[in-house]
Amino acid sequence: MTNITIPEIIKRKSEGKKITMLTAYDYLFARIVDETGIDIILVGDSLGTVIQGHTTTLPVTMDEMIYHTKMVSRGVKNALVVGDMPFLSYQTSVSDAVANAGRFLKEGGAAAVKAEGGSNIIEKVRAIIASGIPVMGHVGMLPQSFHHMGGYKVQGKEDTSAERILNDAILLEDAGVFAMVIEGVPEGLAKRITDAVSISTIGIGSGVHCNGQVLVLPDLLGLLPQPMPKFVRRYANLRETCIESLKQFKEDVESGDFPSGDESYH
Ligand code: KIV
Repeated sequence: MTNITIPEIIKRKSEGKKITMLTAYDYLFARIVDETGIDIILVGDSLGTVIQGHTTTLPVTMDEMIYHTKMVSRGVKNALVVGDMPFLSYQTSVSDAVANAGRFLKEGGAAAVKAEGGSNIIEKVRAIIASGIPVMGHVGMLPQSFHHMGGYKVQGKEDTSAERILNDAILLEDAGVFAMVIEGVPEGLAKRITDAVSISTIGIGSGVHCNGQVLVLPDLLGLLPQPMPKFVRRYANLRETCIESLKQFKEDVESGDFPSGDESYH
């Protein structure tokens, strides 16, 4: 395996080879994900919900993102590491956007950043890219706009919102993003966007026509107790495995079965 670069991700569109992306939030899981040959590891601000226990991603801070990005970068040898810009780290001003994006590369060891939005953030996206920092776009259902959307709801079902999302995707391509996430839109709209832009689209809850797919790692591994949205495929039930293992440990200690002679120094 070789290091995945931004030019390689860009080339994937013409090669027709799908892009795989997963989230990771620490060294432990970043190493596991990286060993599998996954192309991109996103240090997602989804850490606010799956790691920190918040109900939305809104409370996540820049310092927390940098802390997690550093841990992930230490565990990765091959994948492209992308840092997710948290709420209000780029929306506030062009200079905040560039300075905060820069922290992901300078301090976090990421190769690129991701930001949610289209026309509303386009001057910030242009400025970050002009500073030499690669940007991944993110259109459709935008978790940082939770209150605006009235919850996590599929976007682009009506003609006007579908046109707005398509236009945002085209604007982002023009601004120079190297790839973009399409989250929570009908598969027909994801196909229209994917056909309209020359960069790769990476879908989550947006059907099969995107140029790649991303999932949140704890969702895919079955580490969380709550019911998952229908677009999540659970490849394992690690929560159950963890609980069974820990119960067994407790039982073995209480019964005197652990540690055995072989597990002791003599
Ligand atoms: O924060 C995140 O994990 C994301 C992915 C769902 C794309 O933005």
